[in-house]
Amino acid sequence: MAGGAAVNVSGGKEYSGKMTNFVFLTCLVAATGGLIFGYDIGISGGVTSMESFLLKFFPSVYRLQEKSDSTSEYCKFNSEMLTLFTSSLYLAALVASFFASTVTRVFGRKWSMFYGGLTFLVGAALNGAAENLLMLILGRILLGIGVGFANQSVPLYLSEMAPAKLRGMLNIGFQLMITIGILAANLINYWTAQIKGGWGWRISLVLAAVPGGIIAVGALALPDTPNSLIERGHEEAAKAMLRKVRGTEEVEEEFRDLVIASNDSRAVKHPWQNILQRRYRPQLTMAVLIPFFQQVTGINVIMFYAPVLFKTVGFGDQAALMSSVITGVVNMVATFVSIISVDKLGRRALFLEGGVQMLICQIIVGILVGVKFGVTGAETELSKGYAALVVFFICLYVSAFAWSWGPLGWLVPSEIFPLEIRSAGQSINVSVNMFFTFIIAQVFLNMLCHMKFGLFFFFGGWVIIMTTFISFFLPETKNVPIEEMVFVWKNHWFWGKFIPDEALHIESRTAIAAAP
Ligand code: BGC
Repeated sequence: MAGGAAVNVSGGKEYSGKMTNFVFLTCLVAATGGLIFGYDIGISGGVTSMESFLLKFFPSVYRLQEKSDSTSEYCKFNSEMLTLFTSSLYLAALVASFFASTVTRVFGRKWSMFYGGLTFLVGAALNGAAENLLMLILGRILLGIGVGFANQSVPLYLSEMAPAKLRGMLNIGFQLMITIGILAANLINYWTAQIKGGWGWRISLVLAAVPGGIIAVGALALPDTPNSLIERGHEEAAKAMLRKVRGTEEVEEEFRDLVIASNDSRAVKHPWQNILQRRYRPQLTMAVLIPFFQQVTGINVIMFYAPVLFKTVGFGDQAALMSSVITGVVNMVATFVSIISVDKLGRRALFLEGGVQMLICQIIVGILVGVKFGVTGAETELSKGYAALVVFFICLYVSAFAWSWGPLGWLVPSEIFPLEIRSAGQSINVSVNMFFTFIIAQVFLNMLCHMKFGLFFFFGGWVIIMTTFISFFLPETKNVPIEEMVFVWKNHWFWGKFIPDEALHIESRTAIAAAP
């Protein structure tokens, strides 16, 4: 319906380009940038629940938690200090993504990835060796800077390298690496929590150096994207690179369009002012709303606090940790559904199906938890079968996220911006994402305490809003060459009026004439 028809009336270009070993390998290496983000999402929840860690850095939180054991089940983990450790990193990432925007544009995508990996590496070392709160916080800030740089540059890199028809699939490599990072972190925490002597948390934190090292070294080996090479004036190198990534000599047409896009881009001296112009309103709206919506699906309640959440609904310690490993596996495996289908079914179909499935699961989980704990949240034991039912529906919810809002929340913003504001647009995407990740991490335990099982309905409400929004306002972008995306907006029933005719380069892009 609404935005669905737009796909047929894009620029109509079909450049040659197939899956070559070269494009596969470069995208694989770049995608490992997702590991550092994922590792971080997965590691902090487990570490902050380790006694020795709390005693060393947050003794007052530790005592508070001990004392509050007798109150309502919904409130027993509520502590702002506890969440600050988790959430502070995302603020650093938010700020860093703006600096990354300049590095990505002026020096090339690969250097942002490199700096991201390097700062993450140093942050991991500092965290693993932390003797006081200052070292810990400094380490967190460095990790955050690393995540900001990587998340700003990796999705752009992937979307620019990939041939249009495989862009979804190759870009989702980033999300796949995020989920692998989360799962690896969950498993490592499961192991280090059992280490006697109270220093297991050091291993958890220092192992972040592994994904940091991988992307730092990997980035050095990566070539830059043809788009970025042209943008920085290396046209010959760009053409050679385009031939190499596309695996064919016939790249003239695509090359010419990249050069046109780049000329536009040179005319724009201030991407940050430009992005506010009316003609970029559709893309800007998406760069703000998509990451916002991604976070208010409530996914990070599960990712950060799965063990806490499972304990809250009556699981024992071991069972809670195990259940969070299960959701981690589901999260990773379900991402493949998206990898396989995103360039065939399209982005909209996945968004819409995912939204409906998440909503149904949220309603059911809300009811299951509400029936057991009511509004008082009095302590009660869950039967095995009942607990399994809760985990089952949470897994169904996680899988829906993993093939919709998870990957598409990074893919769509990276492919909709014209070159001249692409880097700035992606920074907005990252910073909005990080801001709401921070908010959710910071207030979730408090919300659980006050909204109780209603929390599931709260996020469900947002899922209704975002699904409706996608249905009406997001045009389909599958298979459309990235520098031709403007046609998709021009032909959209609502956004079309924002795009001036001169944005289409009618003289060089005749295909628009053929559009219905
Ligand atoms: C989101 C993260 C989330 C992760 C879960 C990512 O796309 O940005 O906030 O934790 O997916 O797999």
